[in-house]
Amino acid sequence: MAASGFTFPIVRQTGTLSPGMSSYQRLLKHLLFRMDPERAHNLAMRAITSGLVRTRLVSDPRLRVTWQGLEFSNPLGLAAGVDKNGEAVERWRGMGFGFAEIGTVTALAQPGNPRPRLFRYPQHEAIVNRMGFNNDGAEAMARHLQGRRAGIPLGINLGKSKVTELEAAPADYAISYGHLRGFADYVVVNVSSPNTPGLRSLQNVESLQAVVEAILGTPGPHPPLLIKLSPDMASEDLYAVVEWVNSFPVAGLICTNTTLDKSAVPEAKDEQGGLSGRPLLARSNGVLRDVSERLQPEKLLIGVGGIMDAQGLWAKLELGANLAQVYSGWVFGGPGMPAKTLLGLLDRMSHEGLNSVSEITSRSARATRSRIL
Ligand SMILES: Cc1cc2nc3c(=O)[nH]c(=O)nc-3n(C[C@H](O)[C@H](O)[C@H](O)COP(=O)(O)O)c2cc1C
Repeated sequence: MAASGFTFPIVRQTGTLSPGMSSYQRLLKHLLFRMDPERAHNLAMRAITSGLVRTRLVSDPRLRVTWQGLEFSNPLGLAAGVDKNGEAVERWRGMGFGFAEIGTVTALAQPGNPRPRLFRYPQHEAIVNRMGFNNDGAEAMARHLQGRRAGIPLGINLGKSKVTELEAAPADYAISYGHLRGFADYVVVNVSSPNTPGLRSLQNVESLQAVVEAILGTPGPHPPLLIKLSPDMASEDLYAVVEWVNSFPVAGLICTNTTLDKSAVPEAKDEQGGLSGRPLLARSNGVLRDVSERLQPEKLLIGVGGIMDAQGLWAKLELGANLAQVYSGWVFGGPGMPAKTLLGLLDRMSHEGLNSVSEITSRSARATRSRIL
């Protein structure tokens, strides 16, 4: 199994499992957090894939989100990087997520960067990773997805193979897309990982247009195409990309990937890689706000970065995200995190007299600019 950064308390199903942690879960979490982070991730992934991990599910019509015919039972999705090869694709619904994004997958299988490449900072609820798109390749993912159903909307996140020159990136993305688009409810062009040399330089309109044209130039029906952005872009570059998305057949944006700014975690300052988790929230929300104020309301906006609880999820939605995703918050919060977060969201919605997630999104500058939502 390919690996990425994740540790996770393993629990067996108990019908009445509270979204908080039992002492059993706490013990397991303690043990997993003492292990090497990548080994712990692989162990947790094996347990999830084999169906050993279950958690409480929160089902409530007020949590439903619909976007262009896609039905999400709740707005909290699994972020890219947890399930790089789509090995646990049938499990994410049972882990409480409203949708799941698998990958990043590349046209060519690749081992990623040398280990160690994953670092946890529990006192900051932060992670630094420089995994480098370790994955088995797009063809292997397609073989694996054959005949498997996620039961929730499935996103597939595509990256550039490390050995492919930047000029050849459009064709490289198009190869992966050709193998995988038939399995995806949406596809993501990831140009924002800090761990593939030069990748972020594709975050300009000209390069993005070349990649998107190569993808949309392939024959056949196209699932919605999203672009995942970094939180470290200069404002003028960010605005140019949003303007371009508004006028091009790109369905929306995912904000954000990890940041290179590790100043909030002094222990991590000499570690190469991208920072995620609680210290990313403010920066990521800043980008989300900037994008939200400029992105057409009919485009899909997914907020990710630093969600640790209901408050974090609420903030993304209130800034104009239609949906949100989590990685680090789930690592630190454990399998009960989605349920606990969604129950917290429902509480706040009741408190504020709101009956749907889209009513939260509708409070944003994005929606008030135009009342299409
Ligand atoms: C160990 C690790 C691996 C990741 N791998 C990917 C990846 O392959 N592709 C991607 O688009 N994002 C990847 N991410 C970024 C997450 O999807 C997410 O954008 C980021 O971690 C911020 O969310 P969080 O604060 O909830 O973790 C990874 C994050 C972590 C921690």
